[in-house]
Amino acid sequence: MEKIKVGIVGTGFIGPAHIEALRRLPNVEVAALCEVNIELAKEKAAQLGIARAYVFDDLLKQDDIQSVHICTPNFLHYSQSKAALLAGKHVVCEKPLAKDLHEAEELVALAAQTGLVNAVHFNLRYYPLVRQMKTMREKGDLGDVYSILGSYLQDWLFYETDYNWRLEPDKSGDSRAIADIGSHLMDVIEYITGLKTVEVLADFNTIHKTRKKPLKAVETYSGKMLKPEDYADVPITTEDHANVLLRFDNGNRGSVTVSQVSAGRKNQLKLEISGSKKTFAFNSEAPNELWIGNRDGYNEVLMRDPSLAYPEARALMSFPGGHNEGFPDTSKQMFKEVYAAIEAGKQPESPSFPTFADGYRELLICERILESNRSQTWTKV
Ligand SMILES: NC(=O)c1ccc[n+]([C@@H]2O[C@H](COP(=O)([O-])OP(=O)(O)OC[C@H]3O[C@@H](n4cnc5c(N)ncnc54)[C@H](O)[C@@H]3O)[C@@H](O)[C@H]2O)c1
Repeated sequence: MEKIKVGIVGTGFIGPAHIEALRRLPNVEVAALCEVNIELAKEKAAQLGIARAYVFDDLLKQDDIQSVHICTPNFLHYSQSKAALLAGKHVVCEKPLAKDLHEAEELVALAAQTGLVNAVHFNLRYYPLVRQMKTMREKGDLGDVYSILGSYLQDWLFYETDYNWRLEPDKSGDSRAIADIGSHLMDVIEYITGLKTVEVLADFNTIHKTRKKPLKAVETYSGKMLKPEDYADVPITTEDHANVLLRFDNGNRGSVTVSQVSAGRKNQLKLEISGSKKTFAFNSEAPNELWIGNRDGYNEVLMRDPSLAYPEARALMSFPGGHNEGFPDTSKQMFKEVYAAIEAGKQPESPSFPTFADGYRELLICERILESNRSQTWTKV
């Protein structure tokens, strides 16, 4: 069997996670990577055991590379996805799909025109128990959705000295916590419940109004302490923390909180979805368990176990119960579905995986959340 050759664009944090996930698929070969310059590309290729290293334009000239994964900072997603589609490559893009709605709209249209496979890496949909909640809701086990409570909390921007390109709107967009992690939360809520978010009321807070940007590269684990003259004070305009009230198209309500300054919360997405029959509670830091609440009987804990789950969720499990699966497995399970489509050569009619259209939908909700925060009024999606 000829394997599908893939090129990875950007090899910071998430690029290597894509590489690892792809290497666990039987029909895929990670053949090449590209970085911001050729020296770094070669260094990363040697580190990651990948044969070929390029800069972006040269990667696209490689006829044998059939698909590319865009794993670069947000401001590059639009131009790189567009160029890749125009070069005839299937595209898996990181979230958010683009920096604004116009860019996203153009990408959705272009992808549809080309017929190429297009996906956005909303990998959190691929926790098997997330698919289990979706399937239980579809089969009527949850009943009508009464209310949704969601949060996504992190602490990696807790200190004023924590710094990253995500703090700069020209690289990240006008929203930060909502665009970066709220995007996953808003996506997964609509995915599980099948509801549409129709109106939002947002209240943002920037805890650190200025941050200290290092003036020289900080080597990871170098153990070197920076001195005061090594930092510049930079004003921060994007949110560290946001609360959003939500109204859904079934007339019921929800709320979400996101924060990147919650000490001790490393990467915690929590959901509590209450229906007319049961409540589901899920925590991404303990993703092998789903709490199911009942009014008239015992509450239950469903362990991730292929023999206990619906077939739709079982399809996302590679290991038996008790053999825990986690974050790295979500990308593998998503790419399994994406590469089945790539093997077939075109975007399916109703893809099981998140597409550029889903990326557009999530940007639309995020943009309305930003508008609502600016006007401090309910805003229609
Ligand atoms: N789905 C998820 O769970 C998840 C998790 C983390 C990050 N992300 C997304 O992935 C993207 C990257 O985030 P990250 O944390 O890996 O960032 P990062 O800063 O760690 O890595 C970005 C990489 O892109 C490279 N790069 C920059 N310009 C480039 C260019 N022109 N050509 C090729 N490479 C270039 C950088 O050198 C760097 O290696 C972001 O959009 C982020 O939202 C998604």
